[in-house]
Amino acid sequence: MTRRTVRIAMNGVTGRMGYRQHLVRSVLSLREQGGLDLGDGSTLWPEPILLGRREHALRAMAERHGIEHWSTDLDTVLADPSVDIYFDSQVTAAREDALKAAIAAGKHIYCEKPTATSLDGALDLARRATAAGIKHGVVQDKLFLPGLLKLKRLIDGGFFGRILSVRGEFGYWVFEGDWQSAQRPSWNYRAEDGGGIVADMFPHWEYLLHELFGRVRTVQALATTHIPQRWDEKGKPYDATADDAAYGVFELDGGAVAQINSSWAVRVNRDELVEFQVDGTHGSAVAGLRECRVQHRSATPKPVWNPDLPAGESFREQWQPVPDNADFGNGFKVQWELFLRHVALDEPWRWDLLAGARGVQLAELGLRSSAEGRRFEVPELTL
Ligand SMILES: NC(=O)c1ccc[n+]([C@@H]2O[C@H](COP(=O)([O-])OP(=O)(O)OC[C@H]3O[C@@H](n4cnc5c(N)ncnc54)[C@H](O)[C@@H]3O)[C@@H](O)[C@H]2O)c1
Repeated sequence: MTRRTVRIAMNGVTGRMGYRQHLVRSVLSLREQGGLDLGDGSTLWPEPILLGRREHALRAMAERHGIEHWSTDLDTVLADPSVDIYFDSQVTAAREDALKAAIAAGKHIYCEKPTATSLDGALDLARRATAAGIKHGVVQDKLFLPGLLKLKRLIDGGFFGRILSVRGEFGYWVFEGDWQSAQRPSWNYRAEDGGGIVADMFPHWEYLLHELFGRVRTVQALATTHIPQRWDEKGKPYDATADDAAYGVFELDGGAVAQINSSWAVRVNRDELVEFQVDGTHGSAVAGLRECRVQHRSATPKPVWNPDLPAGESFREQWQPVPDNADFGNGFKVQWELFLRHVALDEPWRWDLLAGARGVQLAELGLRSSAEGRRFEVPELTL
């Protein structure tokens, strides 16, 4: 086995996503397994360079994980010709400028969503990356979740017949930060810092709906701020200027209608933090992060509406679990592996900066729809 090193500058690794999902669960996990087997007698060995603003945090992290390289100087790292890939999981508002610099330096790009804070910015990035001839990718982790992979398997197997509708319910209670600390960063609740649930979640809904059911053709949304005041990481009160809940309706190519509630101000009365119910002429399914349950038309009960009587049957028990029938790896890691193979072997890859721009487009149109009280067509994007 020959070993090829790929050097990855990772910016934003002190953050929630950067540390847990991208560094520990993906890149370091690949190292623990001896690198990525490329299947051609060689292994790809990822060598992270931790990038960030706080020297002491980076040094401590590097020591904790036995990582040799870290830096607080983005320009110097980008100027180093031995660095192959620039990865970005910084706060959203910091991403666009850093990506532009990395593209100009000729690095391949992999980054978190949303890729930019405006559609113009997101498209500009996609165009620059294409012109530079580099490889580029955007995280679309939900596609690799076990529950949604099982849902995809049902779709591919023709289980649903004609798909009529998709009902998504996403969210949980994010504490305000006064009497219990908030479990999400405060910038998420400030529009001026790139926050807001529409900017955060509509990019996910775009690629999920697009890949599983059909491209989003129209969007109509109502975004709101249910909790107007929160307390930040230092216990200081601040005004929540960004939306913390959004109620969206999406028409899809192929005729299905999707309706997705996204909220950080909802208490969970579901089995998982996100669940999608899909109804088709031949069967229905409810898929979450890990689980998926189905009800075939042949096993569909015939309830009769009668409020004078207690419910005569337990509807939730009438669904059948879909077995795993496979080992599902961590979704972030699976996508990292595919991206690294795309870089190393030129394997096909479709989750690029143009795909990322579609997510930003849907978020932008969703917010506009809410502000203007209108439904919008979602034009197809081209470079
Ligand atoms: N794919 C997903 O499921 C998913 C989930 C959550 C967040 N995200 C995305 O990941 C990115 C990071 O989110 P997070 O929840 O990890 O955020 P976080 O606040 O935990 O981390 C942000 C990181 O950016 C750095 N940073 C750079 N410039 C900064 C600045 N000016 N102010 C504050 N921090 C700065 C921080 O040091 C930190 O490393 C966001 O773009 C978000 O949309 C994706």
